[in-house]
Amino acid sequence: MKIVSIVGSPRGAKGATAALLNLVLDGARSKGAETEMIVIKGPEVKPCRACDVCHKVGVCPQKDQFNVIKDKIIAADGFVLATPNYIFHVTAQLKAFIDRCCGVVHCIGFEGKYGASVVTAGGGDEEDIADYLNHFVAITGGIPIGSVWATMGQIQGQKFPEDFPEDIKGKAFALGERLVTARQNKEKSPRYQSVTAQFAERMRSLIEWRKEEWPWEYEYWRKHRGGV
Ligand SMILES: Cc1cc2nc3c(=O)[nH]c(=O)nc-3n(C[C@H](O)[C@H](O)[C@H](O)COP(=O)(O)O)c2cc1C
Repeated sequence: MKIVSIVGSPRGAKGATAALLNLVLDGARSKGAETEMIVIKGPEVKPCRACDVCHKVGVCPQKDQFNVIKDKIIAADGFVLATPNYIFHVTAQLKAFIDRCCGVVHCIGFEGKYGASVVTAGGGDEEDIADYLNHFVAITGGIPIGSVWATMGQIQGQKFPEDFPEDIKGKAFALGERLVTARQNKEKSPRYQSVTAQFAERMRSLIEWRKEEWPWEYEYWRKHRGGV
């Protein structure tokens, strides 16, 4: 089983968010998963240019790491999205990746992947950001199984992961374990199942309406999603 994770932070693998994410990945590995951490500090995934090409031909024309990362998620069993709180939201780095997934969103392209989210913040407000990330997992067709977060200002010391409180370390490890067992047991998410279904209906209508402009997405829906 493969779990791919993305951390969007200029501090990359040395930051607090990557440290918390690493504990989640430790948990996933303890249940036999192979894991990968992909760092987006900035240039790896540039912002969406709203060119519409992904909807017309099925692939983003920008020459950076986006298509590679997208394909890694499609080939994986699960994915974890990790971000620090930057002014009450995900970082611009992670948001660039999310925006570039516009074609994935139209095609519910991460269908069946198990997802989780990781957030750190100086002072709080992590839960709303984690909910946003889990919503993104759901509208791309994934099954969100949970989140873990840490308010760094309340944590003594600066060495991570050692200085994370035991309960946060335990939650992070358990989240990684659950990501693997949820996939093994083919669990459903009662909270998000209807979100995914309703959003897919919205995309079906959109693709039908724009079929002349977005031929690739129309064909994708016709061939792989039972038509529009
Ligand atoms: C530009 C910027 C904006 C931030 N905004 C917030 C914020 O609104 N609320 C908050 O609690 N922490 C905020 N922080 C603090 C970070 O979320 C916190 O230090 C986080 O753990 C950093 O993670 P990292 O080491 O993985 O980059 C901000 C930090 C930066 C650099």
